[in-house]
Amino acid sequence: MDIFLFKSILSMVVILLVFIALFSMFEIFGRSEKRFNIEKLKKLHRANGILYLLLFIFIAYFCLDFMIKTKAELSYRASFHSVFALTVLILLCLKISIVRFYRQFYGKVQTIGLLIALISFGMVGTSGGYFLLVTRLGTDIPAAKVGERKKDALQEGIKIIIKTDPRSIAKGRGLYESKCIFCHDPCSTKTKFGPGHQGILKNPLLPVSGKPATPENIINQLRNPFRNMPSFSELPEKDMLNIIAFLNTL
Ligand code: HEC
Repeated sequence: MDIFLFKSILSMVVILLVFIALFSMFEIFGRSEKRFNIEKLKKLHRANGILYLLLFIFIAYFCLDFMIKTKAELSYRASFHSVFALTVLILLCLKISIVRFYRQFYGKVQTIGLLIALISFGMVGTSGGYFLLVTRLGTDIPAAKVGERKKDALQEGIKIIIKTDPRSIAKGRGLYESKCIFCHDPCSTKTKFGPGHQGILKNPLLPVSGKPATPENIINQLRNPFRNMPSFSELPEKDMLNIIAFLNTL
């Protein structure tokens, strides 16, 4: 399963946990005559909170891992998402420390709980929620649109002549080492995060999509990646051509 879809589905579980937390909190503090056993509700609220935290850490691991691998600047959406996530984490720590140690502040716990719930909606909405919306609940992941997109790029009429001068190759190597090498091995065909690039332009087909190994299709991969690769669409065309010049030497 696509890692982003997997994360998005997990984030829906996070939302479910938020609802359970809100429900148990309202039942504990909000009613004068209680419908349920308060001790049981408190246990449910605590177990639910622990599950939330574990899931949070699990998902955050993938997010951080992706950030470290891509070293890319965050988009606006991703920046909001990170700020929300960080705020949730801080509020959770605050809440746990009040419940455990600083009981004089106990009156604030409900407000903090509400804030955590609200910010959780923002956190999930800017990542998993967004992803599920634009992929129509995961049924329209970009891979399915590759054919369509490839046509778009080719319709722009890009005709590429591979540069072979040492300056372009050296520039391409520099770019490759700063942008691609975390995920791709230039000296073999073994997979790191993405496939190894040895002989990439000498083989007949590209390793993952199986499209013809042409510079046009590689540029297309940089602009509209096949699946999990980050997009490099903001890279100037001359940098792309230098990268192609370097890939041609592998
Ligand atoms: C965060 C990791 C990551 C980075 C950084 C990255 N790639 Fe990729 N790349 C992938 C993955 C994963 C794939 C497998 C296909 C996919 O998911 O799109 C891939 C596939 C490819 C392919 C094969 C596409 C196909 O159709 O089979 C090419 C060519 C490629 N990358 C070139 C590059 C170049 C050039 C750079 C640097 C400008 C780069 N990649 C940077 C992860 C990365």
